[in-house]
Amino acid sequence: MKKIQIALIGTALALCAPLALAQSATKIKVGLMLPASGTYAALGTAIENGFKLYVAEQGGKLGGREIEYARVDDESDPAKAVDNVNKLLKRDNVDVLVGTVHSGVATAMAKVAKETGTLFIDPNAGADAITGSMCAPTTFRSSFSMWQSAYAMGEVMAAKGYKNVVTITWKYAAGDESVRGFKEAFEKAGGKVVKELNVPFPNVEFQPLLTEIAATKPDAVYTFFAGAGAIKFVKDYAAAGLKKSIPLYGSGFLTDGTLEAQGADAEGLLTTSHYADGLGSARDNAFRQAYAKAYKMEPDVYAVQGYDAAQMLAIGLNAVKGDLTKKAEFAMALEKAKIDSPRGPFTLSRSHNPVQDIYLRQVVGKQNKIIGVASKALADPGRGCTM
Ligand code: PHB
Repeated sequence: MKKIQIALIGTALALCAPLALAQSATKIKVGLMLPASGTYAALGTAIENGFKLYVAEQGGKLGGREIEYARVDDESDPAKAVDNVNKLLKRDNVDVLVGTVHSGVATAMAKVAKETGTLFIDPNAGADAITGSMCAPTTFRSSFSMWQSAYAMGEVMAAKGYKNVVTITWKYAAGDESVRGFKEAFEKAGGKVVKELNVPFPNVEFQPLLTEIAATKPDAVYTFFAGAGAIKFVKDYAAAGLKKSIPLYGSGFLTDGTLEAQGADAEGLLTTSHYADGLGSARDNAFRQAYAKAYKMEPDVYAVQGYDAAQMLAIGLNAVKGDLTKKAEFAMALEKAKIDSPRGPFTLSRSHNPVQDIYLRQVVGKQNKIIGVASKALADPGRGCTM
């Protein structure tokens, strides 16, 4: 090689080196948009705990870059959602958006993230559109779609021979879509949803609707409530004397992170979810021990989803060696990945939603004990996704 060429290569390397160095030296800022107040506050805490546990297990670095956090309390308020995302994007200059619990808030996040090309990981909210009509190469979900656990329960309840079912939920995307998914499977199998009851989110005045359920006398009830609302609903259902006469079923959120407060009123309830107590795998046992040690409490499905959101970020960042400008390579790594979740390994669908087993669980004491797999490797249909 001629002297001049060597000199040129040397110069080029010298120019690149500080760039690479600067990149690995700067931190990646993760914007956590989660509820820290209101009916979903405990869910937000579990997600944040799970996320930070995984990052801590990697020594605080993913893809060779140190992780730092900015956060906002989104209050599960869709009216404040766009302002809150912009606080993270413009005030805090975050590199990645992670959030949130409430579907209405998460949908607003997904829209801003898509428009700005920001990497977005949804660690809970189940709105079907996020990995459906709003899907994007930079949008990923570590949790579930509302359709998934609801559809599985529709099959379970039809197989039990119920014919007439009343549904009751909050009137917003998550509740509506949970009922829709349930109804799709239940009616396909010959059952009938005879009445759809709703209360506005986050209202917990259930009494008039419980009176209506008693008067309608369905074979069973299907419900979606979560967090503090789920605690009150399960207690009110039992207090109204309905638990003995009209069996109550739900998507798993009804009894997740709530059993301490629900006590005996939740005993025996059957729910469907992508996580359960008593899975017994080495992966889950290790996660549960680490979580209990770090936070002095048992993990729930929300903690798992937070943990896996961080795992997914790690898979992408490792593939691009910490360089977040390589978005296509980041996405490709996740599309090919088998994610080693405490819930059991899962892959992502074409629209970036987990393809996962949905468990049937029963409340035994303070646990949602696994009693079987209701639906194996269930994939959300990703309706409307044209990615
Ligand atoms: C949602 O709004 O998508 C949602 C909220 C709480 C849950 C599950 C889904 O537990």
